[in-house]
Parts: sequence; C-alpha cells; structure tokens
Amino acid sequence: MGRRIVSRLELGNGVVIDGENLNPYKRVKDRPLVFIAGMFADGALSAVDVRGKIVACQRKEDPFMLAEMIQKAGGAGMISWSGPKRGAATTPVDDLTIAAARVTHADGEKIIAYVNSTPNPTATLRFAGAVLNRASLPAIAEYSSRGPCNMSSVGVLKPDITGPGTAIAASIPGGANGTAPTRTFGLHSGTSMSTPHLSGIVAMIKKARPQWSPAAIKSALMTTADVTHPDGTPIVDETTGKPNCFAMGAGLVNPTRALDPGLVYDLAPADYIPYVCGLGYNESVINEIMAQPLQNVSCAKAGKIQGKDLNYPSIMVTLTPAAPEVDVKRAVTNIGDPVSLYTLEVVPPEGVTVEVVPNVLTFGLVNQRMEFTVKLKRGPNAAAVGTAEGSLRWVSGKRSVRSPIAVLFEPLPNN
Ligand SMILES: *[C@@H]1O[C@H](CO)[C@@H](O)[C@H](O)[C@H]1NC(C)=O
Ligand SMILES: *[C@@H]1O[C@H](CO)[C@@H](O)[C@H](O)[C@H]1NC(C)=O
Ligand SMILES: *[C@@H]1O[C@H](CO)[C@@H](O)[C@H](O)[C@H]1NC(C)=O
Ligand SMILES: *[C@@H]1O[C@H](CO)[C@@H](O)[C@H](O)[C@H]1NC(C)=O
Repeated sequence: MGRRIVSRLELGNGVVIDGENLNPYKRVKDRPLVFIAGMFADGALSAVDVRGKIVACQRKEDPFMLAEMIQKAGGAGMISWSGPKRGAATTPVDDLTIAAARVTHADGEKIIAYVNSTPNPTATLRFAGAVLNRASLPAIAEYSSRGPCNMSSVGVLKPDITGPGTAIAASIPGGANGTAPTRTFGLHSGTSMSTPHLSGIVAMIKKARPQWSPAAIKSALMTTADVTHPDGTPIVDETTGKPNCFAMGAGLVNPTRALDPGLVYDLAPADYIPYVCGLGYNESVINEIMAQPLQNVSCAKAGKIQGKDLNYPSIMVTLTPAAPEVDVKRAVTNIGDPVSLYTLEVVPPEGVTVEVVPNVLTFGLVNQRMEFTVKLKRGPNAAAVGTAEGSLRWVSGKRSVRSPIAVLFEPLPNN
C-alpha cells in the first residue's frame, strides 16, 4: 500500500504539486486557473465565468457535488483541499467524472498565493497514475469513522481494527450498472473496500483454525495487529499525523500473525447476556436479539456487568476527577505452547498510572484460562478533558498480545 494514485498539477510559475485522484482523465493543459472562495451552493460558483478553466476551492461541500457543479458550469477541472484541521488529507474520492486533484491544505495556500500573484494564472492537470513511494505510508483515511461510541456505558473501544481501504485495486463486474463495461477491474476507496479484507482474513483463519470461536478470531486479529509500519514509524491518522486508537482501533490487521496469537480474550454467546443486561436493556428487548437456545433471558439470573468488564481484546475507561480509579477485569486463554510464561509490557496513557495484577502469567496447559485485573488511576498530570491512549502487552518469546488502552477524561454526552 506504499503508493498513491497521483494527479499532478503544474502551476504556470513552474511549481509542481502532487495531489490524488482515483479516476484517469485526459490531460487538461495550460488552462486559466481561478480560486473560488465560499459555498458553491450559495452561488459562489455561478458568480464567476469558469468555462474552460480549472477551478480551485477549499472543500466545504461534498466533492461529488462540487465536481458536478463545476462540470455543469463548463469548468475544465477541479483542485480541492480541506480546511486546516484536516489539512494533511489528500485521500482520493472515486468516481469523479472531471479532471481533478485533491491536494493538502498547505498546497492549497500555495495555489491561492500563486493565483493572487499574477493577472493570468494558469495550470495543467495530468493523471500520473500509481506512484510507488515509501514515504507515503498508509494512514487512517480522513473518511474512516472515528470512535468512541458516544454511549459511555458501552465500555468498549470502537473502532476495533483497520484494514486497507484506500485506492484498492479490485475486480468489478464488467458491464453491470454503473461500472465500466470495458474493464473488469477498478480502484475504489471506502469501508466497502476495507471490510472485505477483514472478512476474507476471518474466513482464512476459520479454515486454518476451525475450532476457534468468533470471539477468539476477533481477539487474534486485534491483539496481533500492527501499530507501526515495517520501518518502525507509528501508523497515524492522516488528518492529524498522529497515532489515534479512536481512528485505528487495535491496529492494521496482520493476517500472518493472527494465525498464532498465543493468547486470546475469548467470549461465548452467553457472556454477552450480563453485558447487555448491564447496558440497561430489558428482557423483552434482549430476547429479540438473542438466538435459540439462549432465549427467555433473565437478567436477575444472568447478572449484570459493566461494559468495561466485557472480556474484550481492548480496554476503554472513563476517569474523571470525581471517579479517578477504575479496575478492569480480563481473562486470557492459552492457545499457544502448553507450557509458557508471559510477562507484561505496559505503555501507560499520559497522566494515568496502570497496575496489572498479576503481572506474570504462567501456563501449563493449552486452553488454560488465567484472570487478571488492570487498575487504572488518574494522576495529577491527567488532562482535564479529552482522551489519552496507551497499551498493555503480554509477551512470550516471539508472541506479543497487545491491547490498546483508551482513557476518556470526561463523561461522554449521554452521561
Ligand atoms: C440495472 O439496474 C436496473 C434498476 O435497478 C435493473 O432493472 C437492471 O436489471 C439492471 N441491469 C443490470 C445489467 O444489472
Ligand atoms: C422494554 O424496553 C422497550 C424499549 O425501551 C420498551 O418499549 C418496552 O416497553 C420495555 N418492556 C418492558 C416489559 O418494560
Ligand atoms: C419463552 O417464554 C415464552 C413465554 O413464556 C414461551 O412461549 C417460549 O416457548 C419460551 N421460549 C423458550 C426458548 O424457552
Ligand atoms: C451520538 O452522537 C450522534 C451524532 O452526534 C447523535 O446523533 C446521537 O444522538 C448521540 N447519541 C447519544 C446516545 O448521545
């Protein structure tokens, strides 16, 4: 995935800027360049004669709509960028039917400066195709959904995991509605491209390890996911350039490592009953989602647990000044070597102390289950608001079982 699908912009002053676009287009050469501020929907576009010109704009509206409006107005191309908050993002949007490039906010500023510097600004747009570039390491795309889930009681970090989803080359049904009839492949971006990677990896693992439960497979995927690139640099959120477990979840899926996780955070279907009872759902609602033979749930019988104590492969807690300490219960099942010793590596979230009891796990059997408690405490240096992230890793030889730890320093909106 160390590649970008480059759409190259050459300004009349010789400056070359690489943006991105998924759709090939015919070169648009030496056209007048205009920058249009404001909302197109409010008439900013129709106030300018853009016929035959390349239109530059800061994206405040849907890129499909912008492209369509420019095309209808007779424009020859579109250059767009995001506001400063998401300024690094150049993630291409597919199916734009116009010559287009998405550039960084910083490059957008350069384009505005150039347009203002000359009475007759011009530009050329050229589709350069796939460009391999080790420096363009994959990052969490701007359009990827962010957590946390805004019901704090859920107690589970979302998202879970990341799969490749930007500029994915894949087969498409030739000749079907809306797809190119002359080709049987295409490039697309989105969740629809990412989820098939994860589903396919799950199918591969189920075939190789048929005895694993769905929760064990999910745990294996999450605890072995990559949080760094092969060169050791962290995988970041493209909008901020920083790591963010609320964007990436446990990491970027690593199918080979997922086949041999060593330990799993397992869950049986019945383990979800005390969890959903604890979320406050009543029995008639729970029975609607519970399949046979678990129907006719009684929360009085099943008991209730707090969301944070669901035996999930990640950890999320809320630590406020009023409630600065939280204990989290977990249990791991040994599916690696029968006799194995796991030691602990903790990266505490900033401003938080983390104590794990016990901090060594000694197994003598396969399928042996061991419990531990993670004690999280808000320290004097904790942020007043916002979030912090750390991790907990059980290590035994080549095996490393990692869980992200996400801390919210203020209750979520619904509390
Ligand atoms: C195209 O879509 C229409 C409407 O959804 C449907 O009736 C038609 O069968 C589709 N054609 C093909 C080739 O899939
Ligand atoms: C259970 O909860 C649902 C949804 O909140 C509500 O409509 C229903 O009346 C409740 N049933 C009982 C028996 O309390
Ligand atoms: C659940 O309870 C209802 C009403 O008491 C009963 O009709 C139904 O057979 C029960 N279902 C199961 C799976 O026990
Ligand atoms: C969560 O956030 C969404 C979007 O802001 C909002 O529509 C929804 O009502 C929120 N839910 C809760 C439980 O706060």
